[in-house]
Amino acid sequence: MDRSSRLYARSRRSIPSGVNSPVRFYAPRPFFASRARGRHIWDADGARYSDLCNGYGALLLGHADPGVARAAAAQARKGSLYCVPTEQEAELAELVTGLYCPGGRARLVNGGADAAAAAIRIARAATGRSKILKFAGCYHGAVDPLLVEAGSGAAGAPSSAGVPRQAARDTLVAPYNDAAAAGDLLDRHDVACVMVEPAAANMGLVPPGRGFLRSLRRLSRRAGALLVFDEVVTGFRLAPGGAQEAYGVRPDLTMLAKALGGGYPLAAVCGPPRLMDRLAPGGPVYQASTYAGNPVSVAAALAAVRSYKRPLYSRLGRMCRDLASRISDAASDAGVEHVVHRASSIFQVFFTGGPVRDLESVRRADHAMFGRMFRSLLSRGVFVAPSQYESSFLSAAYRPEDVAGLGEAYGAAIREASHG
Ligand SMILES: Cc1ncc(COP(=O)(O)O)c(C=O)c1O
Repeated sequence: MDRSSRLYARSRRSIPSGVNSPVRFYAPRPFFASRARGRHIWDADGARYSDLCNGYGALLLGHADPGVARAAAAQARKGSLYCVPTEQEAELAELVTGLYCPGGRARLVNGGADAAAAAIRIARAATGRSKILKFAGCYHGAVDPLLVEAGSGAAGAPSSAGVPRQAARDTLVAPYNDAAAAGDLLDRHDVACVMVEPAAANMGLVPPGRGFLRSLRRLSRRAGALLVFDEVVTGFRLAPGGAQEAYGVRPDLTMLAKALGGGYPLAAVCGPPRLMDRLAPGGPVYQASTYAGNPVSVAAALAAVRSYKRPLYSRLGRMCRDLASRISDAASDAGVEHVVHRASSIFQVFFTGGPVRDLESVRRADHAMFGRMFRSLLSRGVFVAPSQYESSFLSAAYRPEDVAGLGEAYGAAIREASHG
């Protein structure tokens, strides 16, 4: 028995299903990581994989980036938790607000779900309304009212067991990329906020269709609802200023996580003072956490965000375009119907005649084929997230010359998977 199998048998005895987050599991057992550096991750048996999961997008610079690791280690030696404010928190908030809400404020929290909970509370307080409009296939964290048609691990379930019906009662759901359906719901209900992944990355990657985000901006403003961009994946990924920079549409509130922390747990919600100053202690909206603005995470985030320079995005975009076209060519050569989506350094392949524009069309793709491709890729030393509902991510640790090898691995995996 290999070491990952032994560790899995051991973990299952003390951790539910042996994993601390459901998407980490794949049958018969996930590999257990021992270390990671640059573009590689090693399993407990010493096998090396090219990582295209990259912390579900968090690791824009790759694993153990020297600058980020140095900053985190230096801070850890100076103390890891003060529970009083630091200069570095202000510095990071200035960087974040400069890019995402000039003149505004950012509250640092621990993860994307915390940011979602805070954004909803601010929106409800600001509008005096309780309803939330979200989109099928968009995931915003394991937050009760948002675990409805949530893509990713929760896809297909109207909600999770343990979520009371009342918690989801105020959640309206429209199909992604369907501004008319969203407009109809906004006409018929008093909605506090429209929350959307500006490029959906939790049902595979589904970019916004032409005009979708702009229509949401117009419709939510007309309805007196706030527009919340969940940029947990897209923030600092699509561009330094995220999807709102890439697509040219500004929301009222922005949620950030993943790449913000550069591989350390950190998230933020940000927006203009008229909304953010409603947060306690200055305002009546309660939001708090012991680890918020954790000094080690903030030090890592400062090092990471300072190195997210524009040329990095052009280089990653070129590599990703090259990889996406190699995957598409390989699937065509294998005679397999497919759609490959790409946005900056994010990509995903769907085995379907397409088009893929919402959760329904993602569901129609051949998920069994995706699963076979995933296994075959793994056997060829390439690690992607195990589910069609996730996306793949390049990091700055890849070089243009690595792309041909990745393309070949995809080609061989798609050929093998297509034989059933
Ligand atoms: C778009 C999006 N929003 C929110 C979340 C929740 O973030 P966290 O897992 O840090 O709570 C995720 C997590 O994958 C996400 O992809």
